[in-house]
Amino acid sequence: MKNAATEDKIDNRPAPIKSLNEIQKPIASELATFKTHFRKHLDTDVFLLNRIVNYLMRMKGKQMRPILVLLSARLCGEINDRSYVAATMIELLHTATLIHDDVVDNADQRRGYLSINKVWKNKASVLFGDFLLAKGLLVAVDTQEFELLGVLSTAVKRMSEGELRQLKASKLQNMTEDKYYQIISEKTGSLLIACCECGAISASADEPIRERMRHIGHHIGIAFQIRDDLLDYSQRKTGKTAGNDIYERKITLPFIAALETASLIEQRKMRWLYRRKNKTAAEVENIRDFVKSKGGFEYAHHKMEHHAGLALSLLNEFPESETRDLFSEFIRFVIYRKK
Ligand code: IPE
Ligand code: IPE
Ligand code: MG
Ligand code: MG
Repeated sequence: MKNAATEDKIDNRPAPIKSLNEIQKPIASELATFKTHFRKHLDTDVFLLNRIVNYLMRMKGKQMRPILVLLSARLCGEINDRSYVAATMIELLHTATLIHDDVVDNADQRRGYLSINKVWKNKASVLFGDFLLAKGLLVAVDTQEFELLGVLSTAVKRMSEGELRQLKASKLQNMTEDKYYQIISEKTGSLLIACCECGAISASADEPIRERMRHIGHHIGIAFQIRDDLLDYSQRKTGKTAGNDIYERKITLPFIAALETASLIEQRKMRWLYRRKNKTAAEVENIRDFVKSKGGFEYAHHKMEHHAGLALSLLNEFPESETRDLFSEFIRFVIYRKK
């Protein structure tokens, strides 16, 4: 539990943040409309698919991406039917990639429930992920939203590239800080960029504004994934297995940063330990202690705040408004969230 305490110490620095519920309040009716669309697009008459869909509906995610689409649309104009198309597609694609990601990462838990691969095994999970991916893209085809389709197909392509790059890096154990940023911009940033851009497109924003929104999405994405990687090190109840990245030999920023300040002997020892398959809980704890003692958490935290800061300063180029304030609360939530 020592490390949860370290993390709390880092977390206690900022002023209190708004809960996601508070952020959702001003767009509650729009989010309800989104949810109706989302549910409708999950309908299927295949028995097994339906059982998985029902299970999925119980595992509630934070729905940060639809919130980001709606906030982006409102920041650039008005929320409208195209914003719902974008939000629905993105949440379907996000859900699909999480299901595939849990197969790749061998994850047992998701959103506080057993993961789909744990309950239905890998084969059904891959096929169900494909089903959701196709459903997501069809939302755009059915509504003839080809511009959104283009943006989102590119995002999904980049996500897959990032996941593959990460898979290779964890096999070869040759991660660097630069490679880490490249991977997380692809696997996570790409979809958050798409949230901001599609929100802007739906509100008919012009190209310079879209460009700014893409940059905002990029920095939010980097900060979001660093937060996720820090949370993986913590002992908190996040709804996912704590330490899964370490068990699965996925090297993330806290460890990369810790290695940088370690002696060559320590580096060799910790790299060897990290590479081990079937680590014991004590070995994982050993890695946590190493990262903590070398300032890896502080370093990652600093980088996360840096990217959130860049997103906030780009946001401040928009005129002052209630939506802009809400958007900045959203960014603060991204980096101080507990799950
Ligand atoms: C998890 O995303 C995948 C990452 C990119 C880290 P979220 O944390 O937004 O997942 P849910 O939808 O809320 O479960
Ligand atoms: C994000 O990385 C995965 C995707 C972009 C799908 P992680 O593997 O860290 O996400 P979690 O921790 O499983 O949610
Ligand atoms: Mg994962
Ligand atoms: Mg993770």
